[in-house]
Amino acid sequence: MSAAVVSAIRHRRHANPFTFRETIVRPDYLRIFRREAPLEVEIGFGKGQFLIAMAAARPQVNVIGLEIRDFLVEGVLAQAKARGLGNVFALQCNANTAIDVLFQPGEVARFYVHFPDPWFKKRHQKRRVVTPETAAIMMRLLAPGGEIHVMTDYEPIALDIRECLEGAGFVNTTGPGTFAPASTTGFTSEREDWHLSQGDPVWRMLFRKPLTSDG
Ligand SMILES: C[S@@+](CC[C@H](N)C(=O)[O-])C[C@H]1O[C@@H](n2cnc3c(N)ncnc32)[C@H](O)[C@@H]1O
Repeated sequence: MSAAVVSAIRHRRHANPFTFRETIVRPDYLRIFRREAPLEVEIGFGKGQFLIAMAAARPQVNVIGLEIRDFLVEGVLAQAKARGLGNVFALQCNANTAIDVLFQPGEVARFYVHFPDPWFKKRHQKRRVVTPETAAIMMRLLAPGGEIHVMTDYEPIALDIRECLEGAGFVNTTGPGTFAPASTTGFTSEREDWHLSQGDPVWRMLFRKPLTSDG
C-alpha cells in the first residue's frame, strides 16, 4: 500500500464521521441480492463479527449493515466477498437519518442494535441510535411481528432504550420493564465477547412490533 493511501485511510479513520454530509439514495436491493427474502438490518456493526456469522448461518435472509465509518463498511464487504456470502450488503450512512430513506414501511423483518455508542453529554444525546424519533421510524419500517434485538454494557443506556422502545409501542418479549436473561440471537458481537471476557454485565432486550394495531 502506498504512503498516500495509508495517510488517506488514517485521515479518514480520525475524522469525525458525524461531520460528513451524505445524500442517501435507496439502493436497488433486488439487483444487489438477486432475490426477494426477509430483510434484516444491523445498525453500527463495527468490525462485523455478528453480521457475518449471522448471515453465514442464515442464508435464507438478506442482511444489510449500516455503519457510519467507511473503513468498517469496506472491511465487512471484503469479509462477505471472501466468504462468498451473497446475502450481505453494507452501506456507509448515519443510520438515524438514513433508515427512513433506505427502507420502505413494513419491509424490515429485524433490526439489530448492539452496543450503540452511549453519547453521555446532553448536547450529543441526539446522536444516540435509539431515540424516541428513531423508535417511531423503526416501528413504521418493521413488518408486523418484526423484531429489534438490542445489547449494551451500560445500564443507563439499557434503561433509556427500553423506555424509548416500550414508549413507541413495541412489545418487550420478556415482559414490560425487564431484560432478556440470555442471548436473543445465538451469535456474538466483538463488543459482547470483550465485555463477557471482562466479566461485565450485558443488558439484552428483544422487542416485537405488534401483529395488529391493538397488540
Ligand atoms: C461500540 S461500537 C459496537 C460495534 C458492534 N455492534 C459490536 O457490538 O461489536 C458502535 C458502532 O456503531 C457505529 N455507529 C455509531 N453511530 C452510528 C450511526 N448513527 N449510524 C451508523 N453507525 C453508527 C460506530 O461507528 C461503531 O462502529
